[in-house]
Amino acid sequence: MKYFLPVIYGLLVVNVVVAQELDPYNYSIQKTFKGRNGAVVSAHPLASKVGVMILKKGGNAIDAAIATKLALAVVYPGAGNIGGGGFMVAHLNDGRNITLDFREKAPGKAHRDMYLDSAGNADLDKSQYGHLAAGVPGSVAGLFTAHTYARLPFRDLIAPAIELAENGFRITEEEADGLNSERENFLKYNTTSTVFTKKNPWKAGDTLVQKDLANTLRRISKRGMKGFYAGKTAKLLVAEMKRGGGIISRKDLKDYKAVSRNPSAFKYKGYDVVTMPLPSSGGVLLPMMLKMTDQFPIAEYGFHSLKAVQLMTEIERLAYADRAFYLGDEDFYKVPVAKLTSDAYIKERLRLYKPDTAGNSKAIREGSVEKESEETTHLSIVDGSGNAVAITTTLNGGYGACTVVGGAGFLLNNEMDDFSVKPGVPNMFGAIGGEANAIVAGKRMLSSMTPTIVLKNGKPYIVAGTPGGTTITTSVYQTLVNMIDFNMSTFDAVNKPKFHMQWSPDILFLEKDFPLEISAALEKMGYEIKRRGQIGRTEVIKILDDGTIEAVGDKRGDDAAEGF
Ligand code: DON
Repeated sequence: MKYFLPVIYGLLVVNVVVAQELDPYNYSIQKTFKGRNGAVVSAHPLASKVGVMILKKGGNAIDAAIATKLALAVVYPGAGNIGGGGFMVAHLNDGRNITLDFREKAPGKAHRDMYLDSAGNADLDKSQYGHLAAGVPGSVAGLFTAHTYARLPFRDLIAPAIELAENGFRITEEEADGLNSERENFLKYNTTSTVFTKKNPWKAGDTLVQKDLANTLRRISKRGMKGFYAGKTAKLLVAEMKRGGGIISRKDLKDYKAVSRNPSAFKYKGYDVVTMPLPSSGGVLLPMMLKMTDQFPIAEYGFHSLKAVQLMTEIERLAYADRAFYLGDEDFYKVPVAKLTSDAYIKERLRLYKPDTAGNSKAIREGSVEKESEETTHLSIVDGSGNAVAITTTLNGGYGACTVVGGAGFLLNNEMDDFSVKPGVPNMFGAIGGEANAIVAGKRMLSSMTPTIVLKNGKPYIVAGTPGGTTITTSVYQTLVNMIDFNMSTFDAVNKPKFHMQWSPDILFLEKDFPLEISAALEKMGYEIKRRGQIGRTEVIKILDDGTIEAVGDKRGDDAAEGF
């Protein structure tokens, strides 16, 4: 076992005892955990272990979530981040359900046509890579706002991340592949050399050390929000923008605030579902899809039966048609949420549903409502005293904009691509949008991230979420139907193949190991089918009636479940 050296920065002495509890050079990936005191499931075993360490030290689920997310910013640079944003949904043991929106915002100088060239064509290279693709980061503000519900000092929660960045950790094969595949982009979209490229290709077992990131984390540990949104970090970020033609200003950073929002909450089969409201599309689409599903005896149809898959595909199509037209940041655009999720609208929408035939997206537009007043990561955590947290956080694409803030060591997001850069032009997930999701300075781009908690008799029952761009909401939807309607084990609900339909394009995407006979039958019905690689990396915790906590990390990545 390799011990960390004590790290001394000014007067701050990082807690080496914490580091000695986990060996960043020698760790394994545990996919499932069963226990009673608490569990963490995240995209990386070291991050899950950090979360459990914090629980053992007396932290609650929020403490553990903050520490896990900070550790992910180091050990999972492709998505775990301080240069991006995300959402948190939590159930507190006093009965409160809370949601935090720390989604990135369009910078003050952003404007509607900023990605159009002189001929009016969308320049997706600019919305997807480099300095101009970045929204104002929200993660650090989100963590400090979450900290108001925590027990331990923030410096204890950030200490493991600082050590992992300072001293390095052994990378997995998946991480090595990720870094190698973005090599050209790292070289192209940076103004300084970064730790993410080296002479020879990365391989499993190499050590990744991130000194600049460690220093940025130390500034945050010492100065709080100001360690990121002001002072040296802000100066470095703005200098990076100047060098690379970006537009995030000191004022944008100073003005950034995370927002507590009213959860999207609804009943499904006697359970209370609590999820993230706009700017997460999940807060509208998940209730729409589950309420539509509730109109059919889907449990009788059976998991992956032709009838169930066809029904769920058409439900996804109907919901996503409304996403493209109506959904955006409610602070800037009036969205008819109540109408879209009303029982009457759900029933009316289902009139378009025809069993036994493939629907046609061209024939389905958004419903009529009267105007009324590849990278993200999810973590699920419960503690032993009834608190539960679901956080989905993202840089958008893998390694975000592929741009590192020179001297500050963190990757910038490319979240601006989640706006509709031009009506009808698909973003990197093929999603289209219009006015509701057009770029406006200070606006948050529409998201699919759907961190979700299901309560049974008022207590946490399922904690779930996943990355996957637009497939996020359909994956969460399928996971809940798998567990609630098909009575499936947590392991199978996470790992069995998923499918995805998002109205446009009119293609039914099936995960590569989806059963052949059902896909052939769907094709015969008229569906255009495309096989694709993995859909999402779903992290689920279920709490059984006897209090046993069951955590499952998705087989699709390095995801790991830990607990005690
Ligand atoms: O917020 C969103 O919907 C996207 N930025 C999420 C991106 C994502 O999940 C990529 N991961 N595979």
